[in-house]
Amino acid sequence: MHPAAFLLCILLAGAAHVAHAADVSYHREVWPLFKRHCVGCHSAQKSKGALRLDEVAAVQKGGQSGALFVAGKPEASLLIKQVSGEAPEMPIDAPPLPPEKVALLRQWVAQGAPFDAPPASTAPAVVIPAAYPSAPSIASVALSPDGKWVAAACRSEVAFFAVDDNTSAPRRLPTDCDLISHVEFSPDGARLVAAGGTPQRFGAVTFFALPAGRMEHTRRHGRDTFFRGSFAPDGRAIALGGADGAAHIVPVDAAAKIQSIELHSDWVLDVAYTPDGKQLVTGGRDKTAKVSSVETLRLLRMVDQSSDIISSVASDALAAVAGGYARTLTGYDYKVALAGVEVTGSGNGAQPVNRRDQYVRPFEGQPDAVQDLATSGDRKWLAVATRQPEVRIYQTSDRARKTTLSKLSGPVNAVALDLNGTRLAVGGRDGLVQVYEVATGKLLRSLTPVPVTVRP
Ligand code: HEC
Repeated sequence: MHPAAFLLCILLAGAAHVAHAADVSYHREVWPLFKRHCVGCHSAQKSKGALRLDEVAAVQKGGQSGALFVAGKPEASLLIKQVSGEAPEMPIDAPPLPPEKVALLRQWVAQGAPFDAPPASTAPAVVIPAAYPSAPSIASVALSPDGKWVAAACRSEVAFFAVDDNTSAPRRLPTDCDLISHVEFSPDGARLVAAGGTPQRFGAVTFFALPAGRMEHTRRHGRDTFFRGSFAPDGRAIALGGADGAAHIVPVDAAAKIQSIELHSDWVLDVAYTPDGKQLVTGGRDKTAKVSSVETLRLLRMVDQSSDIISSVASDALAAVAGGYARTLTGYDYKVALAGVEVTGSGNGAQPVNRRDQYVRPFEGQPDAVQDLATSGDRKWLAVATRQPEVRIYQTSDRARKTTLSKLSGPVNAVALDLNGTRLAVGGRDGLVQVYEVATGKLLRSLTPVPVTVRP
């Protein structure tokens, strides 16, 4: 089935369900009404008439005059009487409830005043439009190891397409995240992951099996979104930055436990694994870059403190790399920076053995704030996106710039390389996804991966 048709089916099925379901839901309909109009005077803080409406148990109990309702008999229910004109009319000192809200309460009581199970989340359901009014900015982009497939994060959905097939529209893979901040293919190319969440509500990771794009499972964690991260080299977990200052290691196995390393004093914006999977490099809003041990889940060393936010990190076998808003791109030699640290296993209290200038391996200065870094699967190449409409590609062994793809359509949000660094994918703030052949600079594909309403 065409993906758009598939989505339409979901939407139609949803509409049909609503049309037939006469049942008023306490949690979805009655509670929001109480919250808006009544809880100001009927809660734990203030319980006028000895009535609380902020908890199911209290609603069931009633107030000073006893039960709030007689199940199935709205006319005999105190709740209905006091919202339909009987003194003292509720809400006191405010306009009466609009008739449809009174009707809703009446219907709920007539139905027997059932209390349905509270929803896992009371956030409004994510709505993925059939077409967007304007192209959504690409928050993250991924290339499969063979360079044939691209995935792009467009708000709550992932758009997924074959680079060399421009005859079919991208597949649209919906998630229940408000915002996806990271997409990535597993190192074997067998699955795709989308991570993000709903701000101040939850972080979520969704795994899709390829090539079909079938959702394997979704996992929620914590109370805020995940940021960027990277797959473990063995493909068994993905490490992601958290708004809680931790790096979270989320296993692909839905039954395995999520592990977290508390590291930063603010959002962790990116996480990268060393090629042997033993260490994690993290960077974040607290302007620091750190290296920690996957085995012990402890900090090994803070390798840098920048004058501005570290937005992005990467790693090859010899060095960690961090880039940020200070327009700097810096390598940190593991051997020197971690000398002594691992041996003593001194963990969070580790004393730096060497001074920063002994292990720092600077790259050239960057023209603007660094937005994203991406290494090729073999870690020989590093692509750097800044707020300028260009992408620079460096060889990691000598940190020399090899190529610059300039004259891009606009500022770049995200970059990705394939296994050998032959292809580069670029995601723009203008909503455009482009794929280039690195050696020649040839543009292989350029598209807005989701439908956008065409205005006459
Ligand atoms: C501005 C404050 C205020 C708001 C808002 C308010 N109430 Fe009240 N409510 C009161 C007061 C005060 C009493 C006690 C009246 C009395 O004892 O005479 C009361 C009493 C009641 C009672 C009677 C309780 C009992 O057992 O005697 C019910 C039922 C009730 N409110 C329902 C509601 C509902 C439903 C809403 C929202 C639609 C609401 N109230 C909003 C102030 C408020």
